[in-house]
Amino acid sequence: MQILPIASGKGGVGKSLIAANLAIALGQAGKRTVLVDLDLGGSNLHLMLGIRSPAGGIGPFLAATKTKFQDALVATEYPNVSFVPGDAEIPGLANLSGGQKRKLMNRIAKIDADFVILDLGAGTSYNTVDFFLLGSRGIVVTTPIPTAIVNAYLFLKNAVFRVMHNTFPAKSPGAEYLKELRKDGASLRQLSIPALLDKVRERDRDSHSAYHRRIRYFAPRIILNMLEDPKDAEKVGRLRSSCSRYLDIDPEHLGVVYRDDLQDVALESRIPLIRYKPGSVLAQAIYRISEKLLQQRDDDTEPLLYQGAGDSFAEAEAEAEADFNAKLEYVAELLHSGTLTTGDLIETIKNQQLEIGQLRKQNMLYKSKLVRAMNQGFKP
Ligand SMILES: Nc1ncnc2c1ncn2[C@@H]1O[C@H](COP(=O)(O)OP(=O)(O)O)[C@@H](O)[C@H]1O
Ligand SMILES: [Mg+2]
Repeated sequence: MQILPIASGKGGVGKSLIAANLAIALGQAGKRTVLVDLDLGGSNLHLMLGIRSPAGGIGPFLAATKTKFQDALVATEYPNVSFVPGDAEIPGLANLSGGQKRKLMNRIAKIDADFVILDLGAGTSYNTVDFFLLGSRGIVVTTPIPTAIVNAYLFLKNAVFRVMHNTFPAKSPGAEYLKELRKDGASLRQLSIPALLDKVRERDRDSHSAYHRRIRYFAPRIILNMLEDPKDAEKVGRLRSSCSRYLDIDPEHLGVVYRDDLQDVALESRIPLIRYKPGSVLAQAIYRISEKLLQQRDDDTEPLLYQGAGDSFAEAEAEAEADFNAKLEYVAELLHSGTLTTGDLIETIKNQQLEIGQLRKQNMLYKSKLVRAMNQGFKP
């Protein structure tokens, strides 16, 4: 069974569209495929499949103690494709408790199928990254616009940190060193991953080689969606060179998908484009991607995560804080290798200021909710 998590960093880049159509293509090729909507709080995958109001799904599964995950699966009208609806009532993945997350991860890893596609929500939260790391060859979707590229890079950088965090044994010199760096966010962000790893090697050879053994299996794949101009395809090459220079990983370019106006019509008529117009530009791009996936073997890999990884609320919150401070410095890395131009940079900064403002507001809201819950005697 191959797990194909689909992530992005930025929302609205086409994850759900690609997830749904790819599932149908893999199903048509005879592969038993399960499509899981993990964009909790923002679920729209069912609409991409043409299902109006799905029953069951993740919500009831998480709420009940005795529901079997099998019961969360819904058959679809597409051959070999079943679906696990998300839940608009449950706030995003980022807010799942550690226990809920582990429960879900365990069940997903045990699904009996050839492919399990996870449609993840936007964002680089800790939990989202963990679901991404359920498969060693997850897909990151981006569009050519600079903010989407920055967010794709940021997502991959967070994933690399997460693998590191998971690999260094607690209390090892390597883990202690990372913790020190994290306290002083600036010095953590100024180090590229290769430079950071050099420093780890000086202190802790065992952690350093354990990390290298594990990260070898991490081979994410990139899809560039909503292309309008063939020239935009170069952006993937530049993003990949930033990844190799600063993150020491080499993501694969899985394919490009042009913007296709027929998609709007398909969505209106509630028929996935791959069925509505199999010959359309978009459907053909999806078939090419599915062919590539079918040809690639997913070699047995070591899990990139170990499930015991503890994560306290406080830790997750600290990371979120560090994230938005860090964004600007990530931008610098992308500028150096030409992934972004200076013009792109101005647009990106403007957008980020907006986004940071929104995140702050959201954070305040969560904080006040937490305080209220604690006052009512709730123990997290
Ligand atoms: N290649 C494309 N051509 C035309 N429309 C697209 C394309 N990719 C995505 N869209 C549209 O863009 C919107 C966002 O896509 P969606 O899959 O919901 O993004 P995400 O899941 O990343 O938030 C949807 O209305 C979808 O139909
Ligand atoms: Mg989506």
